[in-house]
Amino acid sequence: MNVIEALNARHSTRAFLPAPVEKDKLNAILEAALRTPSWANSQPWEIFVATGGTLDRVKKAYLKKYEEKAPAAPETPRPAEWSQAAKDRQKQLAPDMKRDCGDAVDQFGKLNQNMFYAPCAVFVCMDKILSEWSLYDIGAYSQSLMLAAREYGVASIPAITMVLYPDVLRQELKIPDHLKITIGIALGYVDENNAINKFVSARSALSEVVRFLD
Ligand SMILES: Cc1cc2nc3c(=O)[nH]c(=O)nc-3n(C[C@H](O)[C@H](O)[C@H](O)COP(=O)(O)O)c2cc1C
Repeated sequence: MNVIEALNARHSTRAFLPAPVEKDKLNAILEAALRTPSWANSQPWEIFVATGGTLDRVKKAYLKKYEEKAPAAPETPRPAEWSQAAKDRQKQLAPDMKRDCGDAVDQFGKLNQNMFYAPCAVFVCMDKILSEWSLYDIGAYSQSLMLAAREYGVASIPAITMVLYPDVLRQELKIPDHLKITIGIALGYVDENNAINKFVSARSALSEVVRFLD
């Protein structure tokens, strides 16, 4: 698979099969993502991978939090504001998903609450002392990971819902206090029988977002 194919093939998967990602594939994906560029090669990413019993405990603890209506506490706060253009694009998401997935969209919340039933969850962290520039590097790392996953037939989704309860993650994954938990990325194999995975998100036209200046 070349890079353009991987870019086009990657999309967010919201229902995974229980089959684990083989350890050698997982290692190859994580190894490839290390080639991500970063400010002065600072490589701010600190990665915690949860599978098996550890991930089961995390998911169980999250479900308890949801049941208790525990307040979410992501360590990168939710945006206070969006531009009008961003709002307009976000508004399109729900109707597009309904168009592609039909009634399967009703599972959206439950799938999020169960970390999409993924067999593998990668939590990307960085030192709390670092700046927005390192967050930029973390974003690049995340895309590298997801593209590398495509090469191995492994599907993914980055999800804020996976990092809503950092206290659970810190306890189960032994994440030290000096690290900020930025994003969770679920990895696994696509459940082709779940129509939620039929969703193909739209993109703005090139002419809308790119200005060529001769
Ligand atoms: C930082 C970030 C957080 C996201 N959080 C969630 C989430 O919590 N739940 C979810 O279902 N999708 C989440 N997504 C997936 C986006 O909805 C998705 O990337 C977007 O709609 C474009 O679709 P695509 O990934 O299929 O191309 C997140 C994506 C990013 C980049």
